[in-house]
Amino acid sequence: MDFTTTKSPSKIGVEITNINLAEPLPKVYIKKIHELWVNNGVAIFPNQMLSHNAYADFAKQFGLFGTEPFIETMKSQPHIVELRRKASETSSPFGGTWHSDWSFQNAPPSATILHSKIIPPIGGDTLFANTALAYKDLSKDLKEKITNLDGIHSAKLPYAKDGFYALENEKRTLKIKSSDKANKYNVHPLIRVHKSTKVKSLFINPVYTIGIDGMSNLESSTLLTKLFEHMTQEKYIYRHKWQPNMLIMWDNRTVMHMAEGGYDGHERLMHRITLAGEEPIRI
Ligand code: SIN
Repeated sequence: MDFTTTKSPSKIGVEITNINLAEPLPKVYIKKIHELWVNNGVAIFPNQMLSHNAYADFAKQFGLFGTEPFIETMKSQPHIVELRRKASETSSPFGGTWHSDWSFQNAPPSATILHSKIIPPIGGDTLFANTALAYKDLSKDLKEKITNLDGIHSAKLPYAKDGFYALENEKRTLKIKSSDKANKYNVHPLIRVHKSTKVKSLFINPVYTIGIDGMSNLESSTLLTKLFEHMTQEKYIYRHKWQPNMLIMWDNRTVMHMAEGGYDGHERLMHRITLAGEEPIRI
């Protein structure tokens, strides 16, 4: 293998260099990159100049495209979402609260791939939290308590007709399609087992997990708040600092992420693709 890998010291992330993602990858590379991605949560490829087609072609070597609900994809590229926040925008950054992408879907995406086009001179980092390590560190009692519990996942807080995006006053370039469909929900195990690595992780997030099946609101919000506080401790977080033309691919099964602001007055432009996943596997 002639590409180079450098692990991040923060227990999430591996940087992969000396590789050109604009060209089809040999099968052996795809296998190795898949392995690096699932074992490190985030695979980071700096200096990748990619046309829209080359970006989509790269992505589909790792699986089928996911389904993008509630946000508009590019007209010319139905699988790419353009995340543009103009210098004049004052709206909150899209994806600015901890979440795992589209966890309310029956089979939430395995990967999200982000390609950076315009990076502001300050702010605009993406943060990742290791939900597998967070699970591993739970006390034996808490692990037992949550083993057979199911989280209720729904898109209603951000995307319902009375949700966050529908009610915001600030203008946003990204087209959000708030809908009654956001009120639907799916139930997923609180602890999921990774299809490839068999690693267990906490599969809950503050944006889409709105309750725990069979528990009162008070009981479930108390438990979820406790778990969210645990999962977002500094020791589980990797802060990704962007450069233009960087491609990163993360595993929604073992990391949560959030987009940080702090770049008002500057443009930020990213292109995003998700890859289809599977129904979360129970322990
Ligand atoms: C997202 O949540 O998909 C957006 C992440 C980012 O823009 O940094």
